[in-house]
Amino acid sequence: MKKELGVHPYLFPMPVLMIATYGDDNVVDVMNMAWGGICAENMVSLNIDEDHKTSENIKKRGAFTLSIADIPHIEAADFFGIASGNKMPDKFERSGLSAVKSEKVNAPIVQEFPLTLECRVVEDKMEVYGHHIIGEIVGVLADEAVLDEKGKVDAAKLNAFVFDQFRSGYYAIGEKVGQAWHTGAPLMKK
Ligand SMILES: Cc1cc2nc3c(=O)[nH]c(=O)nc-3n(C[C@H](O)[C@H](O)[C@H](O)COP(=O)(O)O)c2cc1C
Repeated sequence: MKKELGVHPYLFPMPVLMIATYGDDNVVDVMNMAWGGICAENMVSLNIDEDHKTSENIKKRGAFTLSIADIPHIEAADFFGIASGNKMPDKFERSGLSAVKSEKVNAPIVQEFPLTLECRVVEDKMEVYGHHIIGEIVGVLADEAVLDEKGKVDAAKLNAFVFDQFRSGYYAIGEKVGQAWHTGAPLMKK
């Protein structure tokens, strides 16, 4: 039996993305974002409420970085989704995390997060549903600790977690259960 639940943005898992930007005087701001992701080989898409400090910063600087939040920094990651740089000028400072300027774009890199995409804004639109941004990925930085022996990111080492849009939980990512383009291959031979 299926139950009708109405209209909700119900997908699972949702990512926990950390969007870092510079405000005036290079004040670092970071926000927590679930409604963003990869939309092309070298592009990411962001959906931001235009009241957020991040929205203003991106409009002014034309750049941002997007990092994967990890469990060791879950408190700061959630805090970045509660506090606003508009009302709390020392928001980033309070998190206890540190940032350096990206060498490729006009945006900060949060040093504690394990994987960061450096992005340059290529499309910036106000839509009926909010501020929609497309960023071109111009660089990717990973902590050496999350790389395997071949230099690829090992997802298990990221310690990432996902967001549950149904009951607002954060969930650790579980064990590997398959290999894309291989697990379904036996059915190709039937
Ligand atoms: C789990 C989670 C996911 C969120 N996803 C989004 C999102 O996709 N888009 C958005 O505009 N705000 C989202 N928010 C809310 C912002 O992170 C929050 O309003 C934040 O205070 C904005 O910070 P800023 O004003 O410093 O930019 C999310 C918050 C949480 C906790």
